[in-house]
Amino acid sequence: MAEKITLTRPDDWHLHVRTGEILKAVLPHTARQFARAIIMPNLAPPVSTVDRALRYRSEIIQAIPEDRHFTPLMTLYLTDATSCEEMAKAAQSEHIHACKLYPAGATTNSDAGVSHVSRIYPVLEAMQKLDLPLLIHGETTDSDHDIFDREKIFIDRTLSEIVKTFPGLRIVVEHVTTREAVQFVQAASANIAATITPQHLLYNRNALLAGGIRPHHYCLPIIKRECHRQALVAAAISGNPKFFLGTDSAPHLQQRKESACGCAGCYTAHAALELYCEVFDRANALHRLEGFASHYGADFYRLPRNRETITLRKNTWQVPAHYCVGTDRLIPLQAGERLHWQLSLQHDRL
Ligand code: DOR
Ligand code: ZN
Repeated sequence: MAEKITLTRPDDWHLHVRTGEILKAVLPHTARQFARAIIMPNLAPPVSTVDRALRYRSEIIQAIPEDRHFTPLMTLYLTDATSCEEMAKAAQSEHIHACKLYPAGATTNSDAGVSHVSRIYPVLEAMQKLDLPLLIHGETTDSDHDIFDREKIFIDRTLSEIVKTFPGLRIVVEHVTTREAVQFVQAASANIAATITPQHLLYNRNALLAGGIRPHHYCLPIIKRECHRQALVAAAISGNPKFFLGTDSAPHLQQRKESACGCAGCYTAHAALELYCEVFDRANALHRLEGFASHYGADFYRLPRNRETITLRKNTWQVPAHYCVGTDRLIPLQAGERLHWQLSLQHDRL
């Protein structure tokens, strides 16, 4: 049994850090583990222009602890009004790495998202030409669609069309949650990849709803049945470079989660790598963690792999019950529970 594992320092290819006090509270957690992260643009108002993304980047950089090396990789939020000129500007910026498609109304701060994908076909055409990756929140928004079916319907009706129409476009199907999504990505060409979150690897929907509603397990796309969780674990540990780490860590204050109408999002940045390590260890696949966490995402985004290493040791520790954000609280995933792997703080160079 391995007692420690050393990996190339990983990156988080899907992260929400917000702004202001929350940003200051959460960024040190991410920067402790990850060298880089793809920063989601769903602020209010959305980060829909290069200028806004660069301003947001500066705010993030201010929040990095002095003793950490961390690089935010910025993205733009696509709207019905996004122009091809803005895409050209994005492709020229060394700080913008992708654009995010939120179907309007699909999730947190997505009201300004795309009302119908055909509206942005000229923009997707431009992105294909410019080789700018498209990140997709893959769910339909029709109220007639059952929330547990929305990912599958989106794949069948919208994603397949996008992939057919723009065969050269690099696409990340973000936070896949179903067996169907895994199969779609596996069968697609090499320019189609997917991120997988720790919560979708750890839990099925019983963890959300059986024995009481657990709002801290509520995120979008919603956690599905056990057969889907198993398909996600199999994909993550398969060594297929199309599947890589993206936490979707999405902090919301305690009152916004524990509410009659609670926000979607699991906060996982406090122990992201340890949570993934737990999953890979249970599946006897620790030898596959480095590819998933540290290699495949960088390769897909055509960025160099990191040169530092990090070490996780087998050591039982208790996740704090909460983290403070001013006078408010943030409840982390697995609050008060025990984890069996712990990150050593020192980063060594390869
Ligand atoms: O659960 C989620 N939370 N899913 C998303 O797509 C957005 C995120 C957020 O920003 O809170
Ligand atoms: Zn997200």
